[in-house]
Amino acid sequence: MTPSPGTASDPGSVLYPDGAVSVHGEISSLADACIPAMDHGFLFGDSVYEVVRTLAGDPLAWPEHYDRLRASATSLYMELPWTRDAIGVRIAATISATGLEECTVRMVVTRGPGAMSLLPDTCDGPRLVIYVLPLRLPPPEHLTDGIRIAVPSRLRNDLRALAPSAKTGNYLNNLLALIEARRAGGADAVMVNTSGHVTEGTTSNVFWVRDGVVRTASLDCGILSGITRHELLAEMRRDGLTVEEGSFPLADLTGADEAFLTGTVRGVTPVVDIDGQRIGAGRPGPITMRVAALLQKTLRAARGPW
Ligand code: PDD
Repeated sequence: MTPSPGTASDPGSVLYPDGAVSVHGEISSLADACIPAMDHGFLFGDSVYEVVRTLAGDPLAWPEHYDRLRASATSLYMELPWTRDAIGVRIAATISATGLEECTVRMVVTRGPGAMSLLPDTCDGPRLVIYVLPLRLPPPEHLTDGIRIAVPSRLRNDLRALAPSAKTGNYLNNLLALIEARRAGGADAVMVNTSGHVTEGTTSNVFWVRDGVVRTASLDCGILSGITRHELLAEMRRDGLTVEEGSFPLADLTGADEAFLTGTVRGVTPVVDIDGQRIGAGRPGPITMRVAALLQKTLRAARGPW
């Protein structure tokens, strides 16, 4: 039986203050939530997902995240049966059960349980799983001191294989790149593609600055079209910065004056070292800090209801 969810305004009825999961509409604690063993999302990574954060209790860029979820599903020949509002209602109910004001919401759409076959024909999905977790922003020293990253030998998935533009349940390549980067002393990894061009981080987009010009990989390099990336590109241009999207060799990044990663939860993270090579003065640079300030503006503008 699904317990009736509490609300943030009625803390007495909060059931899961550490986080909650809604599995196909059934809300339970993180520890108790169960996915059927025959779900193709579990068996084959046959799923898509999104991560949304809140600010003062409201989601940021929810329409954009919903549109990307739909586009990711389409690229897996999966159709979402839920409108944005229908998912929003389920998310709001799950958040209410936690009483959390600031949270990270991860929604996963899986193909659902079916026969032990790659083909999804027998699956009774799609099924929607919503995770609500306390929002954990990166430690403040990431912004003040920056992080070191590594470039592993592992490549970003080729555009012609499982395209990185789809946010799917297949993050194993990125996961392995992250392990390799950690072993090399990096906090994160930035991968190149089969042509040796810079792509992105394991869960972030990458930007760098050369002679005052901001650069980032274009979508045709094989990257996720990050919502933070998209909003910052527009905001940087409005703020008078010159921004170039394109195919750039790794040396263009490693020889940069400044670099930073962007993503929904991490925001803007300065990068001060790549594979042991110092970036600029080895401190977060002035354009990076300007972009971090611009992000605050875009966050406020991106707030809206579920
Ligand atoms: N990751 N590139 C990849 C491969 C990502 O997984 C993400 C997001 C991004 C940044 O996209 P956005 O700005 O829309 O968050 C780029 C999420 C946050 C995650 O998997 O946790």
